[in-house]
Amino acid sequence: MAGPPVALPPVLLVVVVVVVLVSGVEALSNGLALTPPMGWLHWERFLCHTDCGDEPLACVSEQLFMQMADIMASEGWKDAGYQYICIDDCWMAPTRDEDGRLRADPVRFPSGIRRLANYVHSKGLKLGIYEDVGNHTCAGYPGSFGAYELDAQTFADWGVDLLKFDGCYCDSLEHLAEGYRNMSLALNGTGRSIVYSCEWPLYLRPFQQPNYTEIRQYCNHWRNFGDIFDSWDSIKSILDWTASNQDSLVSAAGPGGWNDPDMLVIGNFGLSWDQQVTQMALWAIMAAPLFMSNDLRQISPQAKALLQNREVIAINQDPLGKQGYRLSKEDNFDLWERPLSNLTWAVAMVNRQEIGGPQRYSLPLSVLGNGLACDPACLITRLLPTRAELGLFSWVDILSQRVNPTGTVLLRLEAPAQSRRALSGGRLPRPIL
Ligand code: GLA
Repeated sequence: MAGPPVALPPVLLVVVVVVVLVSGVEALSNGLALTPPMGWLHWERFLCHTDCGDEPLACVSEQLFMQMADIMASEGWKDAGYQYICIDDCWMAPTRDEDGRLRADPVRFPSGIRRLANYVHSKGLKLGIYEDVGNHTCAGYPGSFGAYELDAQTFADWGVDLLKFDGCYCDSLEHLAEGYRNMSLALNGTGRSIVYSCEWPLYLRPFQQPNYTEIRQYCNHWRNFGDIFDSWDSIKSILDWTASNQDSLVSAAGPGGWNDPDMLVIGNFGLSWDQQVTQMALWAIMAAPLFMSNDLRQISPQAKALLQNREVIAINQDPLGKQGYRLSKEDNFDLWERPLSNLTWAVAMVNRQEIGGPQRYSLPLSVLGNGLACDPACLITRLLPTRAELGLFSWVDILSQRVNPTGTVLLRLEAPAQSRRALSGGRLPRPIL
C-alpha cells in the first residue's frame, strides 16, 4: 500500500528518514507528531452542550476556546508543552452553506473558525478541529463523506493545525478505510501542516484486526478503544485493554504515529488523587498523546502541578519514542516499564487492590529491561506520587516501595554518569558480578 505523496524540504526529509530508521515502521510523512502531541480537547468535560443561554460557561462556543487559550498561554500550560486547543464535536451549523462548505454554528461561533484560529495563534498555540469520515458526526452534524478535499481545504484556509477524524455513520468498511486514507491525502495536499488524529482502528476492530503498518502511514495518532469516562473503571479498562493488546500496539507506536488511549481526565470529578497519579504516570509510560479534557478555569493546584510535572512529561515526550508495556501482573500489582533514550528507563508500579491501605511492593531490579535497565547499577528517582532521589542501586538489589490503593509509584532509572560516558565513547559498561 503506497503512502501519501512526499514533498518535503530537505531538513524535514532528513528528520523523516531518521524517524523511519529509528521506529522501523513507516510513519505518515508529514513531519509532525515526532513526540506525542499535547493539548486540550473539549469532549469529555463539555460534551455537546449547545445551549449557551442555559450554560454560558460550559457550552461549546468560541468563548470557551478563547478562555482556554488565554489560560493555556498565561498559566504555565504552554510552557509545559501543551500546545493544541482542540474543538471536538458539535461546533458546526446543522447544514453546509450553499457552496457545500462546512460552517460553524453562527450563534456560538459568531466570529467564525478562521478568527478563532488567529486568536489561538496569537497566543502562540495551535487550533484543532473535529470532523467525521461518514455521513454525520457522532452527534449528528454534517459528516465529510464525499467532501474530503473540500473539507481539508476549508480547514487549511481557516488555519487549522490538527484534525480529529471520527468514524461514526460510515456505511461500509471499504468506505471507512478509503475515507481515512483520502482525508490524509487531502490534508497533505493542502500544503498546510495538520496533525491527523484518527479513530480508524476503533471502528474497524469489531470486524477486522487493524493493519497498523497501514494506519501509521496515514495517521499521526489513532484511537483503538472506546471513549474515556471520568471514572476509575474507565481508566482500568483502558489500561487492561492496552496491556492485553500490547503485542500489536507497542510496535505500531513511534515518532510520527502513536496509539491514543484518549483524553486525560485529571482535574475533574471522578478520580481520587491516587487515580489521577495513575493516569498521568501510565499515559507517560504508554507514550500517549496528552490531551486534557478539564476546565482550566477551575482546577485544583494539585491537579495542575500533576499535569504540569516536567519530569513526567519528559518521559511521555522521550525522543526515542518507544511505547512502554506491562511487564507483569501479580499479587494485585501491575508492573509497567518503558525504555527511554540515554540508557534510561521509566517504571510504574500500580496497586490494583481496592481494599485496605498502602501495600508494599518489592521489585528485584534484575527483572527490568530484560535484565539491562539497572545493569550493573542505576540511579533511581521516584517522580510520583512524590519526588525523591532514592540513590544508587546495583542490579542484584530489591527496591521496596509502598503504593496506595489504585495509586502508582513512577520511577526513573538512569545509568550512572560513567556508564553513559562509556557508551558515548563506544565502550559498554562491564557488569559487576
Ligand atoms: C465519539 C468519539 C469521542 C467524541 C464523540 C463526539 O464517541 O470517540 O471522542 O469525539 O464521538 O460525538
